[in-house]
Amino acid sequence: MRDIKSQRRGSNVISGKAPAVRLAGISLTRKRKYWMIGSLMMCVGVVVLLFGMLAGIAMGIQHDFTLGPAHAHLNLVGGVLLFLFGLYYRLVPAAGRMLLAKIQGWLHIIGGVLFPAGVAAVLLEGPAFEAAPIVGSLMVVAAMALFTVVVFRTSRA
Ligand code: HEM
Repeated sequence: MRDIKSQRRGSNVISGKAPAVRLAGISLTRKRKYWMIGSLMMCVGVVVLLFGMLAGIAMGIQHDFTLGPAHAHLNLVGGVLLFLFGLYYRLVPAAGRMLLAKIQGWLHIIGGVLFPAGVAAVLLEGPAFEAAPIVGSLMVVAAMALFTVVVFRTSRA
């Protein structure tokens, strides 16, 4: 029988499996086969916000605000929205487990970065890069539509 301390640590004396490795409350071992989409979205969201704020400081230091719109969309669409979506999936696990949530999450992660990156490319390089913000914005709109469906299906969960 496993002793209580090893059970608490997550190790298995009988099978000899390695104890669960956790980082910021997220299990990184094979025991958990996938990251919950909500956790992933929150982690990507805070990293995007950190990068967006540093970019804002760089703009301020250089007194060059050309990339202001890219900075704004990165922080709001790529950072704040992504974090809020992820928070909903963590608060309502029934929503976070849906296949629709995973599709929505990945769509927004990719679109939420492609959109502001495309805005920056157009501002710096010209209209030759217009396809990037167009595709990125369509991806985040599609992600928003999927999120609307998820919320309507799970708001009473
Ligand atoms: C350390 C943190 C931040 C710094 C230093 C910073 C800096 C800046 C700068 C220098 C501008 C350009 C101002 C101008 O065009 O006159 C700007 C614009 C803007 N920022 Fe930030 N920012 C920060 C964080 C954020 C965050 C967290 C958000 C949103 C969640 C945000 C949203 C915006 C918006 C909406 C604009 C207006 C863009 C425009 O007018 O085109 N910023 N910021």
